Amino acid sequence: MNRPRILVARAIFPEVIERLQQHFDVESNPEDVLWSKTQITEKLRDKVGVFTTGGERIDAEVLAGCPHLKICANMAVGYNNFDLDAMTAARVLGTNAPDVLTETTADFGFALLMATARRISESEHFLRAGHWTRWSYDMFAGADVHGSTLGIIGMGRIGQGIARRGALGFGMKVVYHNRSRLDAAIEGECKASYVSKEELLKTADHVVLVVPYSAASHHTIGAAELALMKSTATLINIARGGIVDDAALAKALHEKRIAAAGLDVFEGEPKVHPDLLTVPNVVLTPHIASATLPTRLAMANLAADNLIGFLVNGKPLTPLNPEVLG
Ligand code: GLV
Repeated sequence: MNRPRILVARAIFPEVIERLQQHFDVESNPEDVLWSKTQITEKLRDKVGVFTTGGERIDAEVLAGCPHLKICANMAVGYNNFDLDAMTAARVLGTNAPDVLTETTADFGFALLMATARRISESEHFLRAGHWTRWSYDMFAGADVHGSTLGIIGMGRIGQGIARRGALGFGMKVVYHNRSRLDAAIEGECKASYVSKEELLKTADHVVLVVPYSAASHHTIGAAELALMKSTATLINIARGGIVDDAALAKALHEKRIAAAGLDVFEGEPKVHPDLLTVPNVVLTPHIASATLPTRLAMANLAADNLIGFLVNGKPLTPLNPEVLG
C-alpha cells in the first residue's frame, strides 16, 4: 500500500522520526542540511505533509510548486514562517505547537530578565578576562527585580506565565498591554493591570516582550518607544526578531538611554546586529527560550501528532486555519 509521503525539514529527535515512519514514507534530514527554499520546494513536490521547525518559509511561491501538499506542521508556537493566507488559499493546513512550551519559555523569560537586570553576563566576562582584582561598593550594581514594576507586552499564555512568576514569586507590580484586555479572572490570577503601551513603557522597570510577530507588530519597540522608557529600565525580547528595531536598541544601549537589554531573538537571526555585539549591557542568547530537552521533545511530538492526526485520522490537534478542514 502506498503510504503518505512527508518531509521533515530539519534534524529532530530520532524517536519522533521513528513514530512518523510508523505512518508515513518519511524523507528526513539527519545531517541537518539548511535546505534553500528552492530545495524545499523541490523536495515537497511529491509530499502531502511537511514537518517544519519555524525557520522554513512556506509561502505562495513554495505552495505553487507543491500540488499535493496538505499540511505544514510547525514545531514552534510562533508561525510567522507561514504565509497563512496563501496556505488557506491553497487549502493547505498549518499547525503550530502551543501550550507544551509555555512554562519552560516563561522560566527562560524570567531567567533572562534576572541575568540582564543583575548584569550576570557582563560580570562573568569581566571575571573570565581576569579583571577582578578587588571588591568595590558599586561593582556591577544592577537593578532590583523584586518589588519593581514588570511591564509585559503580549499577554498570551507565556506572558501570563511571566506575570505569575513576577507577581507571586518576586512581589512585582505587574502591568501589561495586549491587543485585547484579558478577563478579570485571568488578570486577578496574574495580579496584572491593563495599561496603554505608552504608560507601560513610561512606568515599567523591566519590559518583557512576548507578542507574536506580524506586519502589525513589526518594530513594536523602536527609537520612539525606547525614548519613553526609564533610563534605568531593562528590555527583554523573547518574542521574535523584528518586534524590536535592533539598530535603534543598540544605539539606545550605547548611549545608555536604557540600562540594559536581554535578547533571545534578533532581526535576521542567526545574524546579530554588529552594534549589539559591542555593547556590554546586553545579554544575548541564540533563540533558546523553549530549549529544554523535555519541552523540545513535547513540541516535536505535538507537530508529529498534528501530522498523524490530520493525515491518518482527519483530526489535527492545533490547527491554525481550521477553515480548510470544512
Ligand atoms: C519559538 O520561538 C517558538 O515560536 O516556539
